[in-house]
Amino acid sequence: MKFLLLTSVLIAISLRIFYNYLTSVPERPKIDPQRWWGSGSKPAKEDESIRPFKIDFNDTMIQDLKQRLINRRRFTKPLEGIQSEYGMNTDYLNKVLTYWVEKYDFKKRAELLNKFPHYKTRIQGLDLHYIRVTPKVNKNIKVLPLLMLHGWPSSSKEFVKVIPTLTTPQDGYDFVFEVIAADLPGFGFSEGTNKPGLNPVQIGVMMRNLMLRLGFKQFYVQAGDWGSQCSTHMVTLFPENVLGYHINMAGSIRRISIVKLLLGSLFPTWIDSDHPERVYPLTKYFTYVLRESGYFHLQFTKPDTIGVALTDSPAGLAGYLMEKMAIVSNRDQMDTPHGGLESLDLDDVLDTITIIWVNECIVTSTRLYSEGFRWAEDYALQDTPTEVPTAAVKFLHEVVYHPDWILRDKFVNLVRSKSYDIGGHFAALHTPKEFAEDLFAAGAAFLNFHSQKK
Ligand SMILES: *[C@@H]1O[C@H](CO)[C@@H](O)[C@H](O)[C@H]1NC(C)=O
Repeated sequence: MKFLLLTSVLIAISLRIFYNYLTSVPERPKIDPQRWWGSGSKPAKEDESIRPFKIDFNDTMIQDLKQRLINRRRFTKPLEGIQSEYGMNTDYLNKVLTYWVEKYDFKKRAELLNKFPHYKTRIQGLDLHYIRVTPKVNKNIKVLPLLMLHGWPSSSKEFVKVIPTLTTPQDGYDFVFEVIAADLPGFGFSEGTNKPGLNPVQIGVMMRNLMLRLGFKQFYVQAGDWGSQCSTHMVTLFPENVLGYHINMAGSIRRISIVKLLLGSLFPTWIDSDHPERVYPLTKYFTYVLRESGYFHLQFTKPDTIGVALTDSPAGLAGYLMEKMAIVSNRDQMDTPHGGLESLDLDDVLDTITIIWVNECIVTSTRLYSEGFRWAEDYALQDTPTEVPTAAVKFLHEVVYHPDWILRDKFVNLVRSKSYDIGGHFAALHTPKEFAEDLFAAGAAFLNFHSQKK
């Protein structure tokens, strides 16, 4: 009897110690908010001007690209009876490349992007590009400044379908957004660095500096994919600057969350009555991840090697990127010739590829997979909770699905969470209507959070 009691006490104490370990918050890393990422060393004075910018797909570039596409070598045919199971279906790829050469209207696509005001400004030595749309509304409509951050292989282009809605008053809401959609450094029209260490923490610092440069001391943030890694660090480091955070790829990778996710597989419906099937059974989920995440390890370990091939061949670049964009857009279509790509507009997909081709930024953008896993400051901040009010939106085919009880480990004030039975990873391109609706609902939840605190 005494032995049993003693054992129980010991087990209880060990569990408590283990729990304390899992939930302990690491020491806050020391971050230089003005670290220099430009070539050479920091000058005495930095150019702080804001310059209007226009996107130009010029004739020289178009001619050269078309020549390379037309002169491509013959691809190996897919195996008999095989769709996308071995990777990019080359019959399908050929069709898309023909479309890119013959039908894709470079000038018109650039014109569509240029409907929005574009700018560049130098932050910490790098020229950053962003779209800024200021709504024209009367005084009784509140204007919420919103920073929007994309992921890989995207750019601010990902948001052009939602910007008009976000900047126009909607029924039932007394506010609109002023949108600042930025290209991450090394992505789209933003300059990349030639210094190691520009990880999501440091990009979060840069993006906050961009908002401060534009005069916003307090603002809202929307992000997914790598953009959400960067902005999750931003809200953790600088909660005083961010009034609300809307994520479309919400996850917590705190130690406690990982353990909860594993334990959850014992009683999935009990921990998440919403959509347990999106992550459990874990074996099914990990089979999908294992099948589709080879690129992740490749880009984490050797981004520059794959970068040589992708920089040199537009057909190779298109094949590589289309396969990635497909598998996260519709998991039910992985074994079709397009692999899920047809959930998106082909012109949107080709805009993304063209922007990377024009800016020769496949290496600088792909390196983020490497920088994202190399630095202790990243891990320390991942394990630190944040109190910035947060809204999670979960689209059907998003790669990451975490139940709310796990998200709250990281986002203590999870003020809203909604699952949709449609959509995927590139939410603003795929389901722009629902994406914008959710963002308005989140804006209302953030305003409500702050008015209750007063
Ligand atoms: C055309 O665009 C390419 C890619 O942006 C650029 O490198 C080149 O300098 C441009 N050429 C002209 C003549 O403007």
